[in-house]
Amino acid sequence: MRQVTEDDITREVLRRFENTPDPRLKEIMRALVAHLHGFVRDVNLTETEWAAAIRSLKEAGKISINGREEFILLSDVLGVSMLVDLVNHGKPEGATESTVLGPFYVDNPPEMPYGGNIAWHDKGTPAFVYGRIVNMDAQPISGAEIDVWQTASDGLYDVQNSGLEEAHMRGRFHTGGDGRYLVRTVRPVSYPIPFDGPVGALLRATNRQHYRPAHVHFMISAPGFEKLTTHLFDSADKLLDSDPVFGVKESLVCDFVRNEKADERFGVEPPYYTVEYDFVMKPAVGAKTIKLREIAR
Ligand code: BEZ
Ligand code: FE
Repeated sequence: MRQVTEDDITREVLRRFENTPDPRLKEIMRALVAHLHGFVRDVNLTETEWAAAIRSLKEAGKISINGREEFILLSDVLGVSMLVDLVNHGKPEGATESTVLGPFYVDNPPEMPYGGNIAWHDKGTPAFVYGRIVNMDAQPISGAEIDVWQTASDGLYDVQNSGLEEAHMRGRFHTGGDGRYLVRTVRPVSYPIPFDGPVGALLRATNRQHYRPAHVHFMISAPGFEKLTTHLFDSADKLLDSDPVFGVKESLVCDFVRNEKADERFGVEPPYYTVEYDFVMKPAVGAKTIKLREIAR
């Protein structure tokens, strides 16, 4: 076709993807084109507006470095990260729910023993998060790997703080035979998501608040189980209903209980906070199949 019109350009673009060998790529590209063209038609997009959008994407690329991931942020504030999570991680009743990863996860955090202090450099009030990693039958999972990360009390992740040379407010824990974990940290604070790039400009222009409610991040892996990426939120936070990245789920909201008496399990002077939470892991798809096969035998 030599000359496209407003009426047939979409059909022609879709046709050009007809010979895509990978069927999934073909499905994705065709749906993307159809929705994108529909969007342009719906809002009657002007050339100036499209140029502004492209400029914003260019800015997002320019500002992105390790630890400053503007495209993840864009996906987050548009609710796409959370929608991808919801579409992919339907959990059976009783399994711990997942939420967004966010842009501040760093692989291979420092190894910590049971009770290790991720907040060794922080002046916040101590908080202990503890409990068990269990399967759907409430049986402990041994050898689970638990990555924990959080902002310091100043609201910054270590990767945002150029004054820090070592990892801080993050650690990797492992469960023993009883499935138990104990993390020493400080009570988390609400904090602003990065606001100095095109995503910040979008939030300002649309009158949206940009503070996330206080939370601690967890990523839990164990052989035979689906990896769980989640947070625990502080129930006292006023921003639970306006998280700019839509990550709050009711089952992840916890009370940080204030303790005024010493307890030898924690070994700090009061006051300190405690949160008890058992993470319930969903079997991996392969593991489920094996289990069903074993049952059938
Ligand atoms: C976070 O919780 O680390 C986060 C998630 C999404 C956007 C920005 C920060
Ligand atoms: Fe966070």
